[in-house]
Amino acid sequence: MTSKEIRQKYLDFFKSKGHAILPSASLIPENDSTTLFNTAGMQPLIPFLMGEKHPAGTAIANCQKCIRTGDIDCVGDTTHLTFFEMLGNWPLGQYNKEEAVKYSWEFITFEKWLNIDPNKLYITVFEGDSNIPKDTDSIEYWQKCFKLKNIEALENERIFALNKKENFWGPVGKSGICGPDTEMFIDTGLGKCSEKCQPGCSCGKYVEIWNDVFMSYYKETDGTYKKLDKPQIDTGFGLERATAILNGKNNVYETDLFIPIVDKIKKLANISNPNSEKLKSIRIVADHIRSAVMIMGDNLGIVLSNLDQGYVVRRLLRVAIRQGKSLNIPQNINLTVEIAKIVINLMKDVYPELAKNKDVVLNNLIKEETQFEKTLDKGLKELEKLIKIGRDKAHNSVAIRLSPEKKPKPSQYAINSITPKDAFKLYSTYGFPLEMINQELAKHLLYIDEKEFYEEFQKHKNLSRTASAGKFKGGLADHSKIVTKYHTATHLLHQALRQILGEHVQQKGSNLNAERLRFDFSHPEKMTEEEIKKVEDLVNQKIGAKLKILCDEKSLTEAQNEGAIGLFSNKYGNQVKVYSISDFSKEICGGPHVNNTSELGHFKIKKEQSASSGVRRIKAVLE
Ligand code: ALA
Repeated sequence: MTSKEIRQKYLDFFKSKGHAILPSASLIPENDSTTLFNTAGMQPLIPFLMGEKHPAGTAIANCQKCIRTGDIDCVGDTTHLTFFEMLGNWPLGQYNKEEAVKYSWEFITFEKWLNIDPNKLYITVFEGDSNIPKDTDSIEYWQKCFKLKNIEALENERIFALNKKENFWGPVGKSGICGPDTEMFIDTGLGKCSEKCQPGCSCGKYVEIWNDVFMSYYKETDGTYKKLDKPQIDTGFGLERATAILNGKNNVYETDLFIPIVDKIKKLANISNPNSEKLKSIRIVADHIRSAVMIMGDNLGIVLSNLDQGYVVRRLLRVAIRQGKSLNIPQNINLTVEIAKIVINLMKDVYPELAKNKDVVLNNLIKEETQFEKTLDKGLKELEKLIKIGRDKAHNSVAIRLSPEKKPKPSQYAINSITPKDAFKLYSTYGFPLEMINQELAKHLLYIDEKEFYEEFQKHKNLSRTASAGKFKGGLADHSKIVTKYHTATHLLHQALRQILGEHVQQKGSNLNAERLRFDFSHPEKMTEEEIKKVEDLVNQKIGAKLKILCDEKSLTEAQNEGAIGLFSNKYGNQVKVYSISDFSKEICGGPHVNNTSELGHFKIKKEQSASSGVRRIKAVLE
């Protein structure tokens, strides 16, 4: 079964069960500043899982583009990816836990759908802890399902109750909705890695394909769990893994989603039978360039930079280029461009924005790769100088007396004979990566302590805050009251900009947190002091006028005919919500918003700057 068929079957199945099928949201979260990327299908839906009415209806499903940079270090194994597609369904109150389990069972095992032999299916559930009880309901529901096929699904044989680390999902950040989950694993037929091997073991025998989360708690920032009045269900089905399993493959790189990419890399590197080290490099190149292309070609496309998402893309590309070098891909080949063309071709039917953004993506890749090559050349020269000094310094050390064939342990290397500070300088001036610095040093039996290097790294504020691990791991969708206020203030600002600067002003991006709003919009030049003041005054006047905010639901066409603005064409399907602030502003938006502008306080623009060519960025606060 091809990935295309599986994707379509999933959506058809849930459509047949009364779900509205939505397109994928952007990879870049909107109005949620606590993660750089959407990491799960549920993330763009958090406001709706927390009670906002969804304009598309009470049960929805989609195929969501996701990025999990937290998994970056695992890439190269058989299943971990930084970009993946997550199929998901959300009943939003339309059906309960038992039905969710039944739907999962039906889709996995019924002949019409995936037709997987139920004997290969294994289940895990939450075992409970001192705060939250064991999920005995799920055990019962699954047992009923298996019984239909005359399988007695006993605990510890077919169903396993596991701890919170394994079977409790969420919140996305420090606080938020979360709950026990039940996960579905397929037995690949490999032997058990040990006596104890069971679903949840990472050896590769059991591969998880689906997770039904019973969102019944809200985790507070103090770590306590509050029961939700209206529990929700959030499910996630991994397309790449399912495609592998259904085609009898034990790794995602042997599926139609990756074969053309991997083949091309092998061709460029002139390798037909890679050893395990080369295989890992090939996988990293494939994964990282695919992710970078999906981010750069997103509908809210990201430009390369040293900040936030742009920094992540740069890092992915640079790692890929370096891995390409270790595969001896010739320097005259533009690796990223060659692979990007294949990725766009493979994915453009599902994500048409890739075809639309193809030229921009390819042009940016050429620039980035050329620039990085230069950087590497310069950095290498500097490094050679340092190595010479380091070798002289390390002359009497243990390491230098070992022969190069005898690989010493890091502890035996002449640690820090080149200082972490020197290495950091190479990194910050030439973008020369630590892994590569260490690779070069190792050839000369020199070594730099990574921990000290990162300490140095942290000291330099000019570097992206994404450098801290936390940002790569995703964070919290903060929908607190203050963020809601900023959301309403954003609508006021948007309209005020259109009135003061002109109707050409269109939203290009929005990002909120509890401290500020950030709004990107199309406008060709820097705003004058006077314009800034006029916009502030207009927003404050509307706050002072105590205007009511009203929400209406209508078809997208109707909303647009009425002159509603907003960037969200087709994000919510055909039926949309329109938020009006009296007769001042009318915007298509998912919400939530405050009820009255009087709740906002005083509005102040703190910064007006360029975001990219033709796009300005405003940061503003409510005081
Ligand atoms: N949100 C759940 C997950 O990512 C379904 O596994």
